[in-house]
Amino acid sequence: MKVLVIGSGGREHAMAWKLAQSSVVSEVVVAPGNGGTSWPAQDGLASCRSVPANVEDIDGLLAIAQKEGAELTAVGPEVPLSLGIVDAFQAACLKIFGPSQMAAQLESSKAYSKDFMAEMGIPTAEYGAFTDKAEALTYLDSIDHLVVVKASGLAAGKGVIVCDNKEQAMAAVAEMMDDKRFGAAGDQVVIEERLTGPELSLLAICDGKTAKQLIHSRDHKRAYDGDLGPNTGGMGAYAPVPEVGPEVIAEVMEKVVQPTVDGMAKRGHPYVGVLYAGIMLTPNGIKTLEFNCRFGDPETQVVLPMLKSDLAEIMLAAIDGRLDQVKVENHAGSAATVVMASGGYPGSYTKGMAISGLDGVAGATVFHAGTKMADGQIVTSGGRVLAVTGTGDNLQQALDSAYLGIKKVNFDKAEFRTDIGQSSIENQ
Ligand code: AMP
Ligand code: GLY
Repeated sequence: MKVLVIGSGGREHAMAWKLAQSSVVSEVVVAPGNGGTSWPAQDGLASCRSVPANVEDIDGLLAIAQKEGAELTAVGPEVPLSLGIVDAFQAACLKIFGPSQMAAQLESSKAYSKDFMAEMGIPTAEYGAFTDKAEALTYLDSIDHLVVVKASGLAAGKGVIVCDNKEQAMAAVAEMMDDKRFGAAGDQVVIEERLTGPELSLLAICDGKTAKQLIHSRDHKRAYDGDLGPNTGGMGAYAPVPEVGPEVIAEVMEKVVQPTVDGMAKRGHPYVGVLYAGIMLTPNGIKTLEFNCRFGDPETQVVLPMLKSDLAEIMLAAIDGRLDQVKVENHAGSAATVVMASGGYPGSYTKGMAISGLDGVAGATVFHAGTKMADGQIVTSGGRVLAVTGTGDNLQQALDSAYLGIKKVNFDKAEFRTDIGQSSIENQ
């Protein structure tokens, strides 16, 4: 069957790469894709090509799926999900993997997601949600713990301000509600108790009733070594996290993921797709920081290389509500990915730098993100340019092969973190 992948990042390259390995997939089309999402058919790998598209134009994406005759569509980013792409495709009788617009509120409205967690008894930080600034400030005055201020709407992962004192929190509320720093996303703010502890990403495939976990992972959100500098979309990730045992994952499934699937079904918005639970392992136990209604980036660039089972079969089973009948199995060992970013990211940076050495990478997989083909040459076209993934018997081997791969690739002003996974290596 022909499969359509929506999106243009490293996550979508990894989804296309994994789907192309499926025994039921004959061709993959990525809309709009990037400089890495086209290849000819090879042994055990279906061909892939990119088509121009705008991921916010649902009618346009539907027209592409119909013209291409896509028998399965997999959605990468949150924006088309929050715009109702799944509802539109279903109305046109097309199979699509992802949550409905109503179910995608778990990510598109942090206020919805916090109220939902409170109702379902899912462990999360204390909070208040406000559309009125005066009420938000009164709430801040009434509490004496540190807080994190979040724009409730979608803000490309940037709408979270971790505050060190009350003045910063008040300024954050003003930035969101008065200055509209995150546009309409900040019309409602969530003020949350600030938690501490290591983080964990758990992605689970859901069919509205059943949830099956993928391998757990951790990403590095800060720009610079030592987890310093500004937040980014993610500078690297690894899976599994060696010091996080199966009992913790079982607890997240039991207390967070399954109650979410059950609760959404109860609300009449069954959750189908991948549910990403962002978890903090606090001294008081597991707490849910956020839900995403999609695969994580760059987590996908380690989670899918670790997946042994056929991704297309899993997605089709989820859409058809028979996930309980399929096995989700992983390879043994570890995967690690390191993001090569444009100099200056997440601030301003220059695009159009020629990328060399891509053909020389052996033993690691290069997933493209902000790249494009220009006059026969792959050049940079975004902040996060590539994610280089290594695998191995253990985390150290996976990291060694990712960093060996990184050394072969070059572009002007390339930046990457040199300490991906180090905290776990030191913990062993
Ligand atoms: P979110 O998009 O809600 O996951 O937030 C982005 C990042 O902000 C998380 O990965 C955490 O590092 C941090 N964060 C979010 N919520 C909290 C919280 N309640 N306490 C401490 N840090 C948080
Ligand atoms: N890596 C974080 C995210 O995908 O939201």
